[in-house]
Amino acid sequence: MKGIVLAGGKGTRLYPSTNVISKQLLPIFDKPMIYYPISTLMLAGIRDMIIISTPEDIHNYQKLLLDGSQWGLSFSYVTQPKPEGIAQAFIITSHLFKNESVCLILGDNLFYGRLDFLKKGIAENQSATVFAYEVENPEDYGVVVFDKQNKPIEIIEKPKNFVSKYAIPGLYIFDSSVFDFALELKPSARGELEITDLQRKYLAMGELNVIKIGRGIAWLDTGNPSSMLDASMFIRAIEQRQGRKIACLEEIALIMGYVSINEISKWIEKMPSSNYKNYCLKIIEEFK
Ligand code: TTP
Repeated sequence: MKGIVLAGGKGTRLYPSTNVISKQLLPIFDKPMIYYPISTLMLAGIRDMIIISTPEDIHNYQKLLLDGSQWGLSFSYVTQPKPEGIAQAFIITSHLFKNESVCLILGDNLFYGRLDFLKKGIAENQSATVFAYEVENPEDYGVVVFDKQNKPIEIIEKPKNFVSKYAIPGLYIFDSSVFDFALELKPSARGELEITDLQRKYLAMGELNVIKIGRGIAWLDTGNPSSMLDASMFIRAIEQRQGRKIACLEEIALIMGYVSINEISKWIEKMPSSNYKNYCLKIIEEFK
């Protein structure tokens, strides 16, 4: 399975911070935001990823992340000329897929906790899988409505009136038919190709698997100034308490067996003196 990390968008809620810098390059505590969704895919076993961003920003992602081989990964880069919706990701990347399924994660979504729900979703996916997470502000998200038997019956984008407390996080699994279905989509009233329309299509065919994520998992989205600060404080609190970093890609690459100690040591040696480098050096010692 290939991954897509969607890191385009306008980032208007973070203006003026996003005036000249792409949102997903801004830091969440001690590393760029995009490290977190990449770490989620890595921990789920996905090594082949496509990074999508705007034509203005894509070169910065390439500069930051290179071809991914330093972490035992493989990155391709694709530009989205205009932010015309999350579902457009499948149209602009279809040429890179051959009958493969795909896991798409939004570049501003951060998961913390055991990722068994994602591994299960990937292992059991037949057609399409989304996750459902209880939130206080469902009106800000696409939500899924369940019937009394816990069967998903409806998906609604940003409902004005309360219909469900279950938001759908920006992490989706689709089989290869998604690339054809995306081509059939029409822009919504806000002019975007909506991911919820794709999910509705699978739901109508009776082929949408919805997995509830328990509250033992933290799902944070980092799209506005307060949620960004909350996420930074959350990461700092846990990192300082444990002395372990969250989403250190070098550490994950070692744990997952994507790189050897020798390979990653050469990469770490080249890092400038920093707290991050010191942490990586400590990890290498632990692995020896
Ligand atoms: P949003 O947070 O919905 O949009 P945004 O990032 O442009 O921010 P704002 O609402 O403040 O203007 O996007 C969610 C994620 O999806 C984010 O990581 C950006 C990405 N995205 C794209 O890459 N292309 C798109 O066309 C859209 C709509 C979003």
